[in-house]
Amino acid sequence: MTVLKKQITEAVAAIRKDSALTPRIGIVLGTGLSGLAEKIDVQTRIAYKDIPHFPDSTVDTHAGELLLGSLAGTPVVAMSGRFHAYEGYTLQQVTFPIRVAKELGIHTLVVSNAAGGLNPQFAAGDLMVITDHINMMGDNPLIGPNDDTLGPRFPDMIEPYSNTLIELAENVALALGIKLQRGVYLACPGPCLETRAEYRFMRTIGADAVGMSTVPEVIVAVHAGIRVLGFSAITDECLPDALKPVDIAKIIATANSIEPLLSDIVIRCIERMEGKDRTA
Ligand code: HPA
Repeated sequence: MTVLKKQITEAVAAIRKDSALTPRIGIVLGTGLSGLAEKIDVQTRIAYKDIPHFPDSTVDTHAGELLLGSLAGTPVVAMSGRFHAYEGYTLQQVTFPIRVAKELGIHTLVVSNAAGGLNPQFAAGDLMVITDHINMMGDNPLIGPNDDTLGPRFPDMIEPYSNTLIELAENVALALGIKLQRGVYLACPGPCLETRAEYRFMRTIGADAVGMSTVPEVIVAVHAGIRVLGFSAITDECLPDALKPVDIAKIIATANSIEPLLSDIVIRCIERMEGKDRTA
């Protein structure tokens, strides 16, 4: 057994002492987007620090606990608070909860983040469904020996975000009357924001939004055969020729204002995925 497999087994065993729930869907709540956690009918709440091999979350805006319960009648596991590379974690650590969620039973992952808008058609306050990504983290969580029981050595990235789920999200947004942008998310390691020259470059290479997360988790989800639905809350506009100084408090406030839209879409998507919504 590889070290990683052993660590996953130990984390799952610790969680199983508190909860017998088999989640079908995993949810990662991004910066300023933890409101969805309040909609979960939580059965068990476990602090990350009480789960073996889970790193401790260091960012104040992230609560740092695993929630097991049900959302829209479906068993889910939610990460309220995620780990970032800029906190000093390896990408293997950042993505460890995804491995654990897979072992707990998930087949689908819903990821969210706060991101800067690079597409000039986007405005702060918009919500975007992620259609694809660009990894500019300069790192990859799959570097190192591959455990073939967890996934293939060379995972195919032809469709990291499920086209079926993107279409579902777009249909749901239409039905709910929510404007939903679509686009490519580019991940940087952070923690500094990007320069004007970097924003110009990112836009040129095809990115619509930029942030400091999500891509490592999605790579591991793809490796593990989990289908992914991803959303970016566009919190600020990263237009190189009209750039304003970044205000982190404002970014978080904007993410908070987008959160109810995200919650509504995710809940309705889950209902439709699980066949519990027969209205459309
Ligand atoms: N870069 C720019 N703007 C942002 C980011 C980022 O990583 N995250 C949220 N807004």
